Amino acid sequence: MEPTATTAPALPRSLEEIRAEFPILAREVNGRPLAYLDNGATAQKPLRVIESLDRFWRTHNANVHRGVHTLSEEATALYEGARQTVAAHLGADRRETIFVRNATEAINLVAYSWGRSNLAEGDRIVLTEMEHHSNIVPWYQVARERGAALDWAPIDAEGRLDLTALAELLERGPKLVCVAHVSNVLGTVNPIAEIARMAHDAGALIVVDGAQAGPKLPLDMPELGADFYAITAHKMYGPTGLGVLFGRRELLDEMPPFIGGGSMIRKVERDLITWAALPAKFEGGTPPIAEAVGFAETVRWLDELGLDAVHATEVELAGHMLERLGDVPGLRLFGPPAGSDRGAIVSFELEGIHAHDVSEILDRHGVAVRAGHHCAQPLMERLGVAATTRASGAVYNTHGEIDRLVEGLHDARRVFGLG
Ligand SMILES: Cc1ncc(COP(=O)(O)O)c(C=O)c1O
Repeated sequence: MEPTATTAPALPRSLEEIRAEFPILAREVNGRPLAYLDNGATAQKPLRVIESLDRFWRTHNANVHRGVHTLSEEATALYEGARQTVAAHLGADRRETIFVRNATEAINLVAYSWGRSNLAEGDRIVLTEMEHHSNIVPWYQVARERGAALDWAPIDAEGRLDLTALAELLERGPKLVCVAHVSNVLGTVNPIAEIARMAHDAGALIVVDGAQAGPKLPLDMPELGADFYAITAHKMYGPTGLGVLFGRRELLDEMPPFIGGGSMIRKVERDLITWAALPAKFEGGTPPIAEAVGFAETVRWLDELGLDAVHATEVELAGHMLERLGDVPGLRLFGPPAGSDRGAIVSFELEGIHAHDVSEILDRHGVAVRAGHHCAQPLMERLGVAATTRASGAVYNTHGEIDRLVEGLHDARRVFGLG
């Protein structure tokens, strides 16, 4: 679904109540209250999630699917229950919901399993200029291995995907379109349902990198029309070490395993090995059990807030960020103007000051942001910069924190003799 701010309901709790659920937000950094604006890198965790991990370790810890003792049965029920919760959140079947380590691994799974068995010499893969390295490097590798070619769909001057240019690339008959749902640099929300229709009409499959969309948007796989969709729990207020790959069942059924070992086989004979049914076929070895259980709690928490309301809150926050940052002299903003296709991820360049220096001075103010190429070097090249500073908001950020970011930027200009 592509939500709009106008139809979105309000959050069921006040901002103060939501903030109070995050213990870390009460801490100080460099003598100042923490203003955490590095959510695009990883989000903070609500107490409910922290406690669910603690509860798992204290009372249910055992390996899954193997034992017949009580703890193992409990752990298995919790792990498979977590899968059911996540599958429901995605509008997917449990067999289409594969637990992996992160979004990066989810995309690598598709590249190596689907890519190696379906790509051949001369095939084409469309990427976009706004992709994170996670949705570039695996395709580069598998394309080199199979003799396939990569095409790059450009962005326009405002940082939106150029759909006309994409349509032209689709005329070349690619096998696959790989696209981010939300750009981790520009904050652009791509119209995935429309892109999926375009890809399918051209006979291509679509792989969506949902790493930044997971914490921001309602995700319904049939509505989006994604063939593969990757999310990562730690950016969604959940634990590190867990990602989810959604894949359409017909596709996953045909694909060979990615990682071989325990749990993913039906039978191992000396000269014949057969695979377990979905989803186990793609989950070799001991999975991230506690992380999955903690993530299920996160998903329940997010669903209670309602992702339409979370999105509307972030669209409003992004508007405030863009307005306030626009007042800072010498500041160049990247990405589209405020609106429902703009998440609260704002990258900028401050004339005369390197992004790392900006970030360091902001840290003295207790404001946490990110500086660098954000694992999007082709995009940096397209924007004509080596690095940007990125402030990325979450559902718990306040206007006051954005105002402190802006104060810090004025201070950085003074420190560098510019203000
Ligand atoms: C758009 C995007 N894709 C993929 C990733 C990779 O996520 P992970 O490191 O959790 O695999 C990130 C993380 O920054 C991202 O922003």
